[in-house]
Amino acid sequence: MEVREEEAARAERNVRRIDPTGVARVLGTNAVEVVSEFAEPINLLYVDADGHSGSGKGIYLDILEAAYPRIPQGGLALAHNSLNGGPAVEQYLEFVRDERNFRASMNIILDIEGLEVSVK
Ligand SMILES: C[S@@+](CC[C@H](N)C(=O)[O-])C[C@H]1O[C@@H](n2cnc3c(N)ncnc32)[C@H](O)[C@@H]1O
Repeated sequence: MEVREEEAARAERNVRRIDPTGVARVLGTNAVEVVSEFAEPINLLYVDADGHSGSGKGIYLDILEAAYPRIPQGGLALAHNSLNGGPAVEQYLEFVRDERNFRASMNIILDIEGLEVSVK
């Protein structure tokens, strides 16, 4: 999901080149709205959004909280910029590192920006 429609259309064109089956799709829409109404279990949620209206990476927690009821036990939440996201990602990290919310959560440094991997 990409909220800026032009960017979503560009990403969709790229995805079509590597996945002509149409299984993978890019939606030009607000992730918070889509995940809060998603009809299927969300087995893997990956967040890399950078919110508008000043929220920046603070949008991660909004997306996660909207998705949370649909993430089954064993489901994964992945968040980019766990290392360099600064104060904006702190509340997200607090939430996923709380064992009442996720069974385990680990910061994996695959690139210099970091990836938080959390299992429910
Ligand atoms: C760091 S970029 C994502 C880059 C992308 N993952 C990539 O690898 O090309 C952050 C994007 O999040 C989008 N965004 C911000 N808030 C959003 C939301 N609520 N729903 C969907 N996309 C959002 C922004 O428009 C921006 O293009």
